Amino acid sequence: MKKLFILLVLINGINSLKIRGVPDKYAEDYKPDENGLWRCLSNPEIILSIDKINDNYCDCPDGSDEPGTNACDNGSFYCENIGFKSNFIPSYKVNDGICDYDVCCDGSDEIDGLCENKCIEMKLDHDKYVKEFNENVTKGLKLKGNILQRSINERNRLDNEIQRSNDKLRKLEENIELLNIEKIKLNENEKLLLEKFDIIENDVDSLSSSFLNSMNKMNNYVSKLEDLEHILQRMTLEYNHNFNDPAVKDAAESYLNFAASIDDDNNAENTVNRVKLSEIIGNFNEVLSRTKFDLNKIKEEMIQFTKDDKKKDNVEKSHNIWDIILNSFIGYFENVDTLETVENLSDVEIDNKINKLNKDIKNLKTKIRQSEIELNKNFGPDDILRSMNECYTKTMGKFEYKFCPNSKIEQVEKDGRTMKIGFFNDVEVIDNLGKFNINFKKGERCWDGPIREAVAELICDVKTEILSVTEPQKCMYHFKISSPIACFESDLL
Ligand SMILES: *[C@@H]1O[C@H](CO)[C@@H](O)[C@H](O)[C@H]1NC(C)=O
Ligand SMILES: *[C@@H]1O[C@H](CO)[C@@H](O)[C@H](O)[C@H]1NC(C)=O
Ligand SMILES: *[C@@H]1O[C@H](CO)[C@@H](O)[C@H](O)[C@H]1NC(C)=O
Repeated sequence: MKKLFILLVLINGINSLKIRGVPDKYAEDYKPDENGLWRCLSNPEIILSIDKINDNYCDCPDGSDEPGTNACDNGSFYCENIGFKSNFIPSYKVNDGICDYDVCCDGSDEIDGLCENKCIEMKLDHDKYVKEFNENVTKGLKLKGNILQRSINERNRLDNEIQRSNDKLRKLEENIELLNIEKIKLNENEKLLLEKFDIIENDVDSLSSSFLNSMNKMNNYVSKLEDLEHILQRMTLEYNHNFNDPAVKDAAESYLNFAASIDDDNNAENTVNRVKLSEIIGNFNEVLSRTKFDLNKIKEEMIQFTKDDKKKDNVEKSHNIWDIILNSFIGYFENVDTLETVENLSDVEIDNKINKLNKDIKNLKTKIRQSEIELNKNFGPDDILRSMNECYTKTMGKFEYKFCPNSKIEQVEKDGRTMKIGFFNDVEVIDNLGKFNINFKKGERCWDGPIREAVAELICDVKTEILSVTEPQKCMYHFKISSPIACFESDLL
């Protein structure tokens, strides 16, 4: 008897007390005191004799006196599940005739013999599941890595494009500067030439005015000569022959000889011409203005000529300028008009080129702005959605759904009519791992309802796929999407 007692104490000492529904590590809590009494775990003021434990009658408010029966609502039952994972189940599931294998694989929640122990087989299934699941996550993480790399590449591509566009912009602006310098030079040459012509015009003016002066003086002399002739003529006809003054007679005779010699040497026309000197002056003025007109024409032609001439001089220089410009463009921009072969540039041509360059600059600035907007879009943690440009479709019920992670979600009807559920709006990070949902907004308005929108909830898997579509509120859609982008190291089991 004493031996047996010692044996019992030994067993208890090693194994503690084995109480149904209590894990070994809490067995201490069920040790009676020296008087064989025990206190409810949460209510130590309630004292019970040790045999009230698991007597199928609930004594403690926390159910701690009935860990192995369903007598207390509040109690919990411990399934040891040897070989697999131990679990607690609520007391009411104990002895209810149902094998709760999902938590109690050893079947210990029911009376002996009702539920066979399935822990070994369930452990094998579970291990297989975990292995496959982890393989999926690992594969998903690798795919996610590729997607991240593509997103980085896409970002860099945009960055480079903006930088190249800005370089090109600078070049285009430099070109305009060069052209403006050329234009100024062209204008300066023209100015110099005009100044020279002004000098010539002045010379012609002063020459002609001194000529006209002389002519006018001569006209005066001629009319005075005519007066003199008249005086002499009158004297010759009217002098008194009776005086017989030899000097006067001599003079009259001289005059008659003089007049006869003029009539001999010249015909009447000359006399007429001589007295019409004023007409000559008039003619001269006419010729002068014609000359001035011609001079002007020559001047214009000269300007044109010097421009051409300048062109010739500058062809080589221009060649260099355009070569530099061309070379700086080649390989840079496929769709931006490179400058054609060098031409002889006139004022108008330079203006045309400047206008064209200004247009290119405007287009380029628009392009840069668009790229910058694109670059500044928030595509989620690590910019991951940036490269998710593919769309994924799935037919569900009478609709086909089209999910494009970074742009839109559509619902396509059998007849092909497409309804926009929403456009990519933002990424909503939902935990500190960086898991996120994607929000799509501003879809088509529902008939008699709000504007459609959707949330895409992402679940880690190897494939990006629409798993389900629901409409928890009118025209507010919820998409469950499997995708590698939702995989995290912490998902590994
Ligand atoms: C169950 O436990 C809670 C506190 O843990 C207590 O408030 C409640 O009264 C208990 N219910 C019963 C039926 O004993
Ligand atoms: C692993 O991925 C495949 C393919 O997506 C899927 O069919 C399978 O259910 C996944 N397995 C687990 C355990 O998640
Ligand atoms: C440039 O002008 C010169 C002389 O006017 C002419 O010979 C040449 O063909 C022109 N070049 C071009 C490319 O038009």
